[in-house]
Amino acid sequence: MKIAISGATGLIGSALKAFLLRNGHEVDEISRHRGRGLHKSQIFWNPDEDYIDIAALEGHDVIVHLAGSNISVQSWSATYKKEILSSRVKSTKLLVDTIQKMNKRPKIFFCASAVGYYGNQDPYLKINERSLAGQGFLPKVCQEWENASADLILYGVRLVHMRFGIVLSKKGGALAKMLPLFYFGLGGRWGLGHQKMSWIALEEIGSIVEFIMSRDGINGPVNFTSPNSVTNREFTKILGKVIFRPTLLPVPAFVIRWLFGEMGQAFLLDGCDAIPEVLQKAGYQFNYPDLRGALQQIIKSGR
Ligand SMILES: NC(=O)c1ccc[n+]([C@@H]2O[C@H](COP(=O)([O-])OP(=O)(O)OC[C@H]3O[C@@H](n4cnc5c(N)ncnc54)[C@H](OP(=O)(O)O)[C@@H]3O)[C@@H](O)[C@H]2O)c1
Repeated sequence: MKIAISGATGLIGSALKAFLLRNGHEVDEISRHRGRGLHKSQIFWNPDEDYIDIAALEGHDVIVHLAGSNISVQSWSATYKKEILSSRVKSTKLLVDTIQKMNKRPKIFFCASAVGYYGNQDPYLKINERSLAGQGFLPKVCQEWENASADLILYGVRLVHMRFGIVLSKKGGALAKMLPLFYFGLGGRWGLGHQKMSWIALEEIGSIVEFIMSRDGINGPVNFTSPNSVTNREFTKILGKVIFRPTLLPVPAFVIRWLFGEMGQAFLLDGCDAIPEVLQKAGYQFNYPDLRGALQQIIKSGR
């Protein structure tokens, strides 16, 4: 397949690109960085100015849209919250408008989203793709982000919203931020640790994308989460055991709120048990179904 990926320089995009290339697909990057050396496989765009090289995008069978300013990089000021939302909605709308004008439209459009769609939920409640959106900033971002591509169905494009759980990798994201503290023996649960963490190994994402490409019946929201979510308390214990470190230093909820404000509440203290119902019903077999095995593999492989 000929596949174009936006955000291909990011954590998920670079791993997905490498996976798809290894499996014989042709992959082009949709990027904002002409300056970094525009090569044949780059499609230049500037979502802020509604510009994309439409001729270069034409002819791709699949578009995977991951781009958006980093959500967990700093505490959320009002200005940064606008940036988080607009970088996703504007770029999605630009791609949708461009696809509408194409002579040959892609067959599938994958658009990133997150289990943040469901907001903070009772840890005992199983959440699937039919569950309603939650309350707060992240559910609002995810809903507007998903709605921005809804028109693609009218143009005959198969639309898949990838609701990612916490993506686990040594190379970036939440785990990479936690590991140094845990290695120093300073790891501990967040708050009471009852919040559910729906997670997915970075290395699983390529297999899922390829599985969905091969199954015409899958469309709409898909939870990109392992079938075995854990509480933060369990996550902390398992990570400590995998790297042979104690995890005796809990971080009280008020400290998290004081240090990171609304972002800390949403990322560290809230959670939900999002099960991958669509994937399981379609018969997808997970390579990394349980946390201990996934963490062992991530630590060993450095990915
Ligand atoms: N990692 C996770 O745990 C996780 C969990 C849930 C959802 N997600 C979502 O999945 C997507 C990919 O995640 P990731 O972790 O790979 O993100 P990432 O490492 O932060 O990469 C995102 C990419 O988006 C592009 N980008 C950044 N700011 C932008 C802006 N203002 N306008 C347009 N493009 C911009 C960049 O590509 P260029 O510089 O090449 O343009 C960047 O490489 C994100 O939308 C993220 O919110 C991630």
